[in-house]
Amino acid sequence: MPCTVIVGGFFGDEGKGKIVAYLAKKDKADVAVRGGVGPNAGHTITFHGKEHKTRMLPSALVSNQTRLMIGPGVLINVNVLLEEIKNFNTKDRTFVDPQCGIIDSTHIHEDASDSNLQRIGTTRTGTGPANADRALRKGFLARDSVELSEYLQDIPRIVNSSIDRDETVLVEGTQGTFLSLYHGTYPFVTSKDVTASAICSDVGIGPKKVSEVLVVFKAYVTRVGSGPLEGELEKEETTSKGWTEFGSVTGRLRRASPFNFELAKRSIMLNSATQVALTKLDIVFPSDAGKTAFNKLSSDAKRFVNNIEKEIGKKVAVIGTGQELDDIIDRR
Ligand code: IMP
Ligand code: MG
Repeated sequence: MPCTVIVGGFFGDEGKGKIVAYLAKKDKADVAVRGGVGPNAGHTITFHGKEHKTRMLPSALVSNQTRLMIGPGVLINVNVLLEEIKNFNTKDRTFVDPQCGIIDSTHIHEDASDSNLQRIGTTRTGTGPANADRALRKGFLARDSVELSEYLQDIPRIVNSSIDRDETVLVEGTQGTFLSLYHGTYPFVTSKDVTASAICSDVGIGPKKVSEVLVVFKAYVTRVGSGPLEGELEKEETTSKGWTEFGSVTGRLRRASPFNFELAKRSIMLNSATQVALTKLDIVFPSDAGKTAFNKLSSDAKRFVNNIEKEIGKKVAVIGTGQELDDIIDRR
């Protein structure tokens, strides 16, 4: 499978980071390339008991052999990126496209002070205002940044030739399908389309270059910021189910609802999913934490997964059963 695109099926925070990191290690990915909006994303990866968070670098960074790239559609916060490169020690395998847009302090200020953006409940990372400037063709690009000069490479060219050589390429999406500017709950959405087609465009590959589209769902739905959430639970109910989560970028409490079959089906359609992953099964069924074989799951958990498969018409090929990278049932 040379090229797999991974996207979120709900409102972000489905656990894509962990899934991508697992796939990168397991399949020995040659290249991982980030699409999506920018540093408004927060991906959490737990590896050897240590929790890592990324906002700019691909989550595949835990796989040492994988080259890490950021496609031209992605916005960069230079400080955040350089800090991550330093912390994760990935200087010799990080590459950035010259056409990536740059977020500056005025974008961040506007994101935090504009009353309409406050109403939407953005992450205040400057991505919306930076994309607006880009659409107005007055934004700066990575090619204008002296600090990024040593990382600049033609990312679409590298990614396409890597696929042509049959190397294993992971294309990492961010946010989730229903935060898409086009397909989400407008105006309570992010500043770009984030479905699989858009993620491909972000990194410069056409639809025919993609072998698999993996859509990641969580075993329940969460949403940070404003906007509709069907079946939203009261805070107390969320707590008693053990579904309480906090945003990894903003620290905000995430709103929660049970798994939503209608959204999942629509997400599969919008992304032309060929594969589905389900994360955090252990949060709904604590006794199944850490299991790595489907036949070892409790009958309740099996029934839960089988029911999802029946409703959405797709096999759940990858199941997350814990925080660690290897807490996974891989049925691909
Ligand atoms: P923005 O992307 O910062 O403009 O925020 C727009 C909406 O998308 C807000 O509701 C954010 O909470 C949400 N959002 C943006 N990025 C993420 C993400 O990575 N995970 C979850 N929600 C996000
Ligand atoms: Mg997140």
